[in-house]
Amino acid sequence: MSALALAVPRSIAQTTYDVATLASACLNCHLATGSDATSASGSTLIAPISGRSKDALLAQLRAFKSDTPPAGTTIMNRIAKGYSDDELIALSEYFSKQRAAPSTPSKGGEK
Ligand code: HEC
Repeated sequence: MSALALAVPRSIAQTTYDVATLASACLNCHLATGSDATSASGSTLIAPISGRSKDALLAQLRAFKSDTPPAGTTIMNRIAKGYSDDELIALSEYFSKQRAAPSTPSKGGEK
């Protein structure tokens, strides 16, 4: 089995990256939890992205990646440029399927 896996051409292997690995880098800043977005230092709040619609996330990421990012953009322009469009699509889909925090019972109580 492992010999077979090793025989997969590199070009194919690279299209099957693990999106959860890509997404883990985002969670350094965008907490996995929903609205509970207080940073350790208690300073700036960064918007939670889990559970938002795929289309909305993708539109924002493409806007960040463009050469004319939204006014006020600080870091996401540089971050988004590091990903291919396919990766931005995969990330948007991934985060759209993540549940917002169970620690915020006031929002989205259906389960
Ligand atoms: C270094 C911290 C940091 C990392 C890492 C990071 N972000 Fe962001 N993100 C921000 C900040 C700050 C903003 C607000 C826009 C700005 O200032 O660039 C933001 C805004 C966003 C927004 C718009 C949210 C809104 O409601 O306006 C989305 C979507 C987003 N990021 C997705 C991602 C994804 C996907 C990744 C991983 C590929 C990621 N971010 C990685 C800091 C980060």
